[in-house]
Amino acid sequence: MKVLLIGTGGREHALAWKLAQSPRLTKLYAAPGNPGIGEQAELVALDVEDHGSVVGFCRETGIDFVVVGPEAPLVAGLSDVLRDAGFVVFGPSMAAAQLEGSKGFTKDLCARYDIPTGAYRRFTNAAEAKAYTTEQGAPIVVKADGLAAGKGVTVAMTLDEALSAIDDCFDGAFGAAGAEVVVEAFLDGEEASFFCLSDGKTALALATAQDHKRVGDGDTGPNTGGMGAYSPAPVMTPAMVERTMKEIIEPTISGMAKDGHPFTGVFFAGLMITAKGPELIEYNVRFGDPECQVLMMRLKGDLLDILYAAATGTLDQVSAEWSDDVALTVVLASKGYPAAYDKGTPIDGLPATGAGEKVFHAGTALKDGHLVATGGRVLNVTATGATVAEAQARAYRLVDAVEWQNGFCRRDIGWQAVAREKA
Ligand code: AMP
Ligand code: GLY
Repeated sequence: MKVLLIGTGGREHALAWKLAQSPRLTKLYAAPGNPGIGEQAELVALDVEDHGSVVGFCRETGIDFVVVGPEAPLVAGLSDVLRDAGFVVFGPSMAAAQLEGSKGFTKDLCARYDIPTGAYRRFTNAAEAKAYTTEQGAPIVVKADGLAAGKGVTVAMTLDEALSAIDDCFDGAFGAAGAEVVVEAFLDGEEASFFCLSDGKTALALATAQDHKRVGDGDTGPNTGGMGAYSPAPVMTPAMVERTMKEIIEPTISGMAKDGHPFTGVFFAGLMITAKGPELIEYNVRFGDPECQVLMMRLKGDLLDILYAAATGTLDQVSAEWSDDVALTVVLASKGYPAAYDKGTPIDGLPATGAGEKVFHAGTALKDGHLVATGGRVLNVTATGATVAEAQARAYRLVDAVEWQNGFCRRDIGWQAVAREKA
């Protein structure tokens, strides 16, 4: 099978690395990819926003299957254009991608189908949003409706903070994404991410993970795209997974089908485990980054098989097996991230890796034959272990062997789970 993978980050490197292990794969292409992905795939310099050129490449090359990594092309309808042209695609339609593209859309779906989530209201003007927020009181959560690169959410501990977040949204801080605002009840509990494939009718539970969003040790400083992750998430016991499938995922799949936009692809459910049980914070319609990296380290068996089954309505015929090991990844980022940072700084050396160890490339490029850092998040140093503490120790040994002067990382990825192991 000839496969085209769309995307460029650490998530896509992990997908490429796993797809490349499939006996069904004859050739892997990636557009635009990065130097790490280039070890597994032939890189193609396609403009992914130009849907016509992607279709043209698939026709010329005889691509059998397209895997879309990031959300932006899904929300922009790339999978619809490819499906209309006759290609098999992993990734939801533009209509189904609203689950990530519009927070209000997801909240309305939850309301219609009794999916547990925080009480909410949608607003298109500041005065009404502020009146409702004042009536509810803090703590409360203010969200720009659309895609805001992870920055559109304010968890406000005071009313003032909430009111100024509403002003920010309507004053254009998040562009068009903030033209509508969702105000939502604050959920108290422990967060976890749950991943599950859907072919529109059937669900296949994958695994759980925990991300570290804040840039600094001890969960301090501004939010980022994610500074590290581990899998599994201890709070997601088998009983909690079962409840999540029954109370959240299954009604989402049947509700989306009933509403006329069946969901095929991966659900990345952001959950809060509250005193009542699992509640939905949000859906993403693609794998998490860096959560995908730890999932791929633990997946046994053939990734291509299960993604293709999700794309072709045959998910009931496959299964996914997971290693009992913990996988943990540490993000190495450019100094300054998530604010401004230098681009093009040289990476002089990467450590040799053995079994259960992998350095995924996120924001790298080759310049005159040398590896340089081009992004905020640059490398995902990943290792497995029998415990979180062991995976953490192995990952940081590798981190310390990376030669990159302009890089930094958190030193405490997995701290909550390590504390739990010791308790
Ligand atoms: P989101 O972009 O929706 O994932 O939100 C970013 C982060 O804000 C989440 O990972 C949570 O930590 C937090 N958050 C979002 N919604 C809520 C909520 N209703 N209650 C408490 N925390 C929330
Ligand atoms: N790591 C969070 C995300 O991929 O959205």
